[in-house]
Amino acid sequence: MKKTILITGGAGFIGSHVVRLFVNKYPDYQIVNGDALTYAGNLENLNDVQDKPNYTFEKVDITDETAINALFEKYAFSGIIHLAAESHVDRSIQDPLTFIRTNVLGTAVLLNAARKYWKDAMDGKRFYHVSTDEVYGSLGEEGFFTEETAYDPRSPYSASKASSDHFVRAYFHTYHLPVVLSNCSNNYGSHHFPEKLIPLAIHNIRNNKPIPVYGTGENVRDWLFVDDHARAIDTIFHNGVTGETYNIGGFNEWKNIDLIRLLCKIMDSKLGREPGTSAQLITFVKDRAGHDQRYAIDASKLNKALGWAPSLQFEEGLEKTVDWYLANQDWLDHVTSGAYKKYYEEQYQQR
Ligand code: NAD
Ligand code: DAU
Repeated sequence: MKKTILITGGAGFIGSHVVRLFVNKYPDYQIVNGDALTYAGNLENLNDVQDKPNYTFEKVDITDETAINALFEKYAFSGIIHLAAESHVDRSIQDPLTFIRTNVLGTAVLLNAARKYWKDAMDGKRFYHVSTDEVYGSLGEEGFFTEETAYDPRSPYSASKASSDHFVRAYFHTYHLPVVLSNCSNNYGSHHFPEKLIPLAIHNIRNNKPIPVYGTGENVRDWLFVDDHARAIDTIFHNGVTGETYNIGGFNEWKNIDLIRLLCKIMDSKLGREPGTSAQLITFVKDRAGHDQRYAIDASKLNKALGWAPSLQFEEGLEKTVDWYLANQDWLDHVTSGAYKKYYEEQYQQR
């Protein structure tokens, strides 16, 4: 039977890469992108697949139980890949309740709908919850997060994601909902909203604006190219063991300041600037409250069990990312001006 899969948050950064991969790779699947189109959701991210016969967009808020139930009535979903979330740590510090509503309540609403509609036919169903390495807290100089690391979230964002992970596992144990989870490190690549470090720095360097580096820039993140994350999601969705969790990471740790210096070097060369010009824009600013020091993922379980490995070296991925932003200035202009909301109205209101 033809699979109908709901991908939540498909208009966001990672979600749009997952939607693109599934629509192109699985013409026999019907892919339904369910997204509320918050400030972070942008249908322009999916221009290239929007007219494919196996793709449908549904504007839906995952916290709206009636709307989610109606969606499950309309489509007989056999799988859900759940990415919709509030995703930016700094925003969670300003407005924690929005994160609790979307990430905790929204996930619970989806779980509950899946439980209700799959109750008598769990076979062949899959609820895939996409989560983050931030649930594990902060590392010192040594060690890695494994699937056994105890949860220790420290920001409202990571606490809301940790809570949602617990609900997913609770539905597995209590109701035998066929779930699978993954916790991934920092992603980078095209279509990344320019509030996050890498796209924000690219945008500011191009426009000769200060590059804000929090604290001393010594914090460490493990970076993974977004297409590699999408490939891991594909692998886990199809081959992961029900009830299991898989960590996904790039084996690619960088101090923020070293990453920014590398980015400045790449940008100097791409923009034809004198070497060292862009680095003059680096500006140390007040640190993020509760700033996690270091994240590092041990992704060996996923590698050994399912054969996944990152495909790109960081320098190569970063250069590709810079090239995409420089070639897609319109996308950045629309996102930063809010014009993509107009795009949505024009594209969908008269349909
Ligand atoms: P994003 O902020 O770019 O996109 C989130 C999407 O969710 C947007 O399209 C938005 O419109 C949608 N959304 C938000 N609230 C919604 C609601 N109430 N109902 C329906 N849709 C809603 O996020 P991202 O960076 O692509 O992250 C996607 C997922 O991956 C999140 O669950 C995040 O926690 C997780 N994750 C992200 C990273 C990363 O580095 N970005 C790493 C690991 C895990
Ligand atoms: O680890 C996975 C997580 O990675 C995801 O779950 C989150 O959704 C995603 O946003 C990301 O979280 P971070 O907080 O690590 O990403 P961000 O790009 O906001 O920041 C990366 C690092 O750069 C972090 O140490 C804070 C720092 N930073 C960030 C911004 C926006 C700066 O120094 N200056 C900045 O302006």
